Parts: sequence; structure tokens; C-alpha cells
Amino acid sequence: MRQHVNPLSQFFQLYIEIPKPNQLFDDKNLPIHLDIGCAKGGFLFDLAKSNGGWNFLGIDIRNALIDFAEKERKNLEINNLRFIFCNANVSLENWLLALDSNKLERVSIQFPDPWFKRRHQKRRVLQPSLLFALASAMPQGSELFIQSDVYSVIKPMIELIKNSNCFDSSDEFDNLWLADNPFNVYTEREIYALKKGLTIYRRLFYRNKRIPEKFSIYFN
Ligand SMILES: C[S@@+](CC[C@H](N)C(=O)[O-])C[C@H]1O[C@@H](n2cnc3c(N)ncnc32)[C@H](O)[C@@H]1O
Repeated sequence: MRQHVNPLSQFFQLYIEIPKPNQLFDDKNLPIHLDIGCAKGGFLFDLAKSNGGWNFLGIDIRNALIDFAEKERKNLEINNLRFIFCNANVSLENWLLALDSNKLERVSIQFPDPWFKRRHQKRRVLQPSLLFALASAMPQGSELFIQSDVYSVIKPMIELIKNSNCFDSSDEFDNLWLADNPFNVYTEREIYALKKGLTIYRRLFYRNKRIPEKFSIYFN
């Protein structure tokens, strides 16, 4: 299985219509946790099993992983969880903009692919337009959780989130990392990083009440 795919390649520009919550989940009224870049979905399986009051949606650009996760989900008959194959930067924004307000209570982006080089900035999953769509869909008080074991990956994400002016940090001094995963459930990459003793950079943001302004969100 390839570890990285280039999200800008022609193949991944295909727009995929993500179904609306009433087509995804048994109870469309529950709050939604969206995990962007969910891979095989271990994190969401663990959360969905013990949080029946939430709906969970995982999306990933690697189809084989999503097929695997969806088969497993069907076998286990978990109906507050769905996995969808798509490129978040191509297919997610429309879904977000059409979402009922107050539904998207939590978003996580965990260990996104490390496109280190500045010339590869456009391949990073958290792009200004995606952040604008997330901020537009997320109600006040909802949570945006990010983590990575690569400082040069998390730093520009934090700067982008801050310069949107739409999120406040969980840390009042705004310069500390969360010591642990706030959900007590770990992703595959997180388990690997913990075993290897790697430093993990984690931040939790809360949506504030500012109205997002598309053109004020940009990479520094
Ligand atoms: C390093 S893996 C981490 C997976 C998982 N979040 C974890 O922590 O174990 C990053 C994941 O993001 C996915 N990804 C990268 N770019 C994406 C994009 N534009 N849209 C959707 N998924 C993407 C990759 O396919 C990969 O599965």
C-alpha cells in the first residue's frame, strides 16, 4: 500500500458527492465528528462504539483503506459511523457548505501527510479554502483537534487556524501542547509515535463567534 498519494494529481481531482447526513446515518439529528484523513479508521471505530450519541464520518483519499474500513463497519453493524473515499480538498467543501448549522460539533485532522517542502504546500490537506468551509459549518463552541509528530507540519496549520480569527486555543497562553489525546482514543499513527517515543504536538481549538472571511485566511 502506498503511504502517500499526490492529492494534486489528475486522478484525485474527481469530485465525489458526499451523501447528506440523513443518507449516511440512522439518526441524522446527532452531532457529527468529522475525521479528515482517517486511514483505516481505528480511532473512529473506538469512538463510535462508545459514543452512541454522536455520528462519525471519516474521509480519506486512499480508497483501499476506506474499503477496508467500510467492510469492517458493516460486519460490526455500526450505524453511527461511515467512511467515504474522497479528496478532502475537492469534495468536502460542498458537503460542509450544505450542512445544517449546529451539526458539525467536532473536526479532527491527525498526523496529516508530511509535505515538508514549501513548494509542496499546496498538497497539505489543511488549505485556506477548506478551513474557511470548516469555520463556516462549525457552530460556536465546536472543537477542532489537530495533532502531528512533525513540528514543521503542525506549525503552519496552527498559523493558518490562528489567522482565520475563527478559533480560540484551548491553551490560555497559546503556546503549550496538549499532554495527551483529549478523547483517550488513539489513531494508528499515534500508537506508532507513542511506541517510538516521538514527540507529539497536539492542539485543541474552539470555534468562536467571528464570521469567517474567505480572503483573510492564507498561509504566511
Ligand atoms: C499519515 S496518515 C494518518 C492517518 C490517521 N489520521 C492516523 O493518525 O493514523 C494521513 C492520512 O491522510 C490521508 N490524506 C492525505 N491527504 C488527503 C486528502 N487531501 N483528502 C483526504 N485524505 C487525505 C492519507 O491518505 C492518509 O491516510
